[in-house]
Amino acid sequence: MSTSAPTAAGEQAAPSATAPLTLDRLAVVGCGVMGKAIVKGLIDNNFVAPAHVTASVASDDSASALGAYFPGSTIVRDNITAIKSADVVLLCIKPFYVRTVLSEPAIVAALQGKLLISICAGITLAQFAALIPNTRVVRAMTNTPARIRQGMTAVCGGAAATKQDVLLTVKMFQNVGRCIELPETQFDTVTALAGSGPAFAFMFIESLADGAVMMGMPRKIALEMAAQMVFGSAKLALDSGEHPALLKDSVTTPGGCTIAGLLSLEDNKFRGSVARCIEATSRRASELGQPKK
Ligand SMILES: NC(=O)c1ccc[n+]([C@@H]2O[C@H](COP(=O)([O-])OP(=O)(O)OC[C@H]3O[C@@H](n4cnc5c(N)ncnc54)[C@H](OP(=O)(O)O)[C@@H]3O)[C@@H](O)[C@H]2O)c1
Repeated sequence: MSTSAPTAAGEQAAPSATAPLTLDRLAVVGCGVMGKAIVKGLIDNNFVAPAHVTASVASDDSASALGAYFPGSTIVRDNITAIKSADVVLLCIKPFYVRTVLSEPAIVAALQGKLLISICAGITLAQFAALIPNTRVVRAMTNTPARIRQGMTAVCGGAAATKQDVLLTVKMFQNVGRCIELPETQFDTVTALAGSGPAFAFMFIESLADGAVMMGMPRKIALEMAAQMVFGSAKLALDSGEHPALLKDSVTTPGGCTIAGLLSLEDNKFRGSVARCIEATSRRASELGQPKK
């Protein structure tokens, strides 16, 4: 896991000595798949104390389930109460609820002096500035591997956010994986590559296993082998820093079986399909926060 702060270009840099290392009081507005993943990582890493977390959800059922999942934390069904309890507010509701939630009459006053961190796909910093003027907002895009602290997150600060706000957000997300700072112009691509990417990786793992099942391997073994192979290959690419093409070549014996498989993928336009998948997902991500036509 990365432990240093990033530069604007997305490269890791030395952490600032002035940045706070922990959160004091955190409110989580919307605490489903992603909210739970992030808060669990923060609590497990002692980045925030359970007693200093207040989460708000919509339904009674979710509230009682969350109470059992985060013992010692406060679970409410009132966003204003949650926001008032904290210094930092993590917004983890679905994008189509953002306008309604942030248009509550008491919201601007409740948010005064607080940092709002949004993980909502497609909602831009300009849209936040229009909905909650003068609020310090940092936009973050993360992914479900945050559940096991192997997430990939990008962050970008709004006009009112300070450098310290961005640094705190980076440190926060480094508790659940890697985190870098990127310009907002990259966020639709981040949404596709990091946010939606796990779905594509899971489909790849499932397809690999299907091929092995076709050859007679039991599915349980095929799935474990496929997942560990993808995990190991990803870790090798990250740890070695070598270009994937070189790593691929190191597996490919002339006249061997790997090149037979690679050519079969090329015949079926594998690389173009995957690259176009990220392009299509990015384009759709750019439409998410926009009004329906
Ligand atoms: N899932 C991903 O892979 C992923 C990846 C990157 C980013 N994101 C972003 O993360 C955000 C959350 O996604 P998710 O998958 O975690 O969604 P989710 O599992 O559906 O969770 C949404 C949460 O919001 C709560 N909620 C709904 N209406 C609310 C309201 N008016 N006030 C307060 N809370 C409310 C829900 O409560 P109830 O359960 O009571 O309805 C639930 O706890 C989205 O904006 C998405 O774009 C998701």
